[in-house]
Amino acid sequence: MMSADRERPGAVGSNVAVIGAGYVGLTTAACLAHLGHQVLCADILPERVEALSRGEVPIVEQGLEQLVGEGLDTGRLRFVLGGAEAARSAEFVYLSVPTPQGEDGSADLSYIEAAAREIGPVLPAEAIVINKSTVPVGSTRVVEKELGRTDVYVVSNPEFLREGSAVSDFLEPDRVVIGSDDQSAAIRVAALYVGVPAPLMVTDPASAETIKYASNAFLATKLSFVNAVAAVCEAVGADVSDVVLGMGYDQRIGHEFLKPGPGYGGSCFPKDTSALVRIAEESGYDFDLLKGVIAVNDEQFDRVADKVEAMVGGDVSGRTVAVWGLTFKARTDDLRESPSLEVIRRLLDRGAVIRAHDPTVDGRPEGPVWEHIEIGADPYAACDGADVLAVLTEWDEYRWLDFDKVAGAMATPRVVDTRNLLDRSRLMHRGFEYVAIGRG
Ligand SMILES: NC(=O)c1ccc[n+]([C@@H]2O[C@H](COP(=O)([O-])OP(=O)(O)OC[C@H]3O[C@@H](n4cnc5c(N)ncnc54)[C@H](O)[C@@H]3O)[C@@H](O)[C@H]2O)c1
Repeated sequence: MMSADRERPGAVGSNVAVIGAGYVGLTTAACLAHLGHQVLCADILPERVEALSRGEVPIVEQGLEQLVGEGLDTGRLRFVLGGAEAARSAEFVYLSVPTPQGEDGSADLSYIEAAAREIGPVLPAEAIVINKSTVPVGSTRVVEKELGRTDVYVVSNPEFLREGSAVSDFLEPDRVVIGSDDQSAAIRVAALYVGVPAPLMVTDPASAETIKYASNAFLATKLSFVNAVAAVCEAVGADVSDVVLGMGYDQRIGHEFLKPGPGYGGSCFPKDTSALVRIAEESGYDFDLLKGVIAVNDEQFDRVADKVEAMVGGDVSGRTVAVWGLTFKARTDDLRESPSLEVIRRLLDRGAVIRAHDPTVDGRPEGPVWEHIEIGADPYAACDGADVLAVLTEWDEYRWLDFDKVAGAMATPRVVDTRNLLDRSRLMHRGFEYVAIGRG
């Protein structure tokens, strides 16, 4: 699976600290250990550090548990509590802590600032602090200030991995971007990635930081664009699957990321698009296009709720809606800003009863919306007595179920397939009413 060769002659066995053991930090730590570096990965959650030290990976990510196990076995990967503990003997310190959306839409840098303040006093001279969190232009300077040191470097190195394929994305990325005003620091950071087969680009920090936001904003734009095209398809009786196939053959457009759905979500696109709107605003540019992208996405959640409501005759109040899929996309357990939950919230507001299933959710997570969601033991149980089924996350296993059994469990066999995942003709043959996205 991984082409990076950790036994390769010349592999650099650097001392690396990674601050934050979440989706990005843990992947970074495990992959750098795999590449031959000595890695100390720190978190502030004692239970997370303890579990990881036993090789128990708290997130669903293909190949990650194997790499964490490998790192622990070789002794190249260890987990510690607190950033200072990890940073005191490090040549390189990655910051991979959260940068959530602040109240005004901008990125909240408080975790970054706190981590920098914590490691500043203990960093060895000449150490390089590498910012892997997604941060606005100018954050390199913010980190420098919080570190309070003039004998260390701060470099931007944005991360582009996708949850669900984080390990292979890290080890075989499309590109590595390093933003630094100091050439020697950039070269030292670049050496960490020897063996990673990807174009490596060194630029100034502001450009590196902008590349990350602009990339996510562009991907979000593609998704909103295709959802808008899907709405047109519905109105004119076209089939969006054929439309995007036909568009994608144009090499200037391509097939990737032209997939209609319930709206984008996850821990990155919503906050990063808002942050870029704010960054632009603060620098005097009105990024109207991106505001439109965000608005189309919000409307898409409403459009999906409308479809579900229309399917049961126009009033979903008191009706049972079965939901398949709660995570923001398949192959992850991440529920942050999930479009599924956005749609569920809207249906709950309209009085629906929600019975849901997700392969990664057993038991009820904590939080306000969850009190109102019943979790089924399996996809069939979620359909028990349901008036309509909404497919909201594209888990592959939903495609291969016994749909006679599904129909038998439901009060009325009706499906709103927001991922265009299921086989429409097979379902209609079994007596389902079926609607999807963008198919008139
Ligand atoms: N998740 C993604 O797909 C993805 C992709 C690219 C970039 N990013 C960016 O990477 C950053 C991290 O995202 P994530 O999804 O990994 O977040 P996460 O919430 O999964 O993980 C962050 C971790 O940092 C820990 N933490 C917070 N403060 C700390 C401190 N002072 N010291 C040590 N640990 C601390 C938290 O306990 C948590 O375990 C964000 O800026 C995000 O935008 C995320």
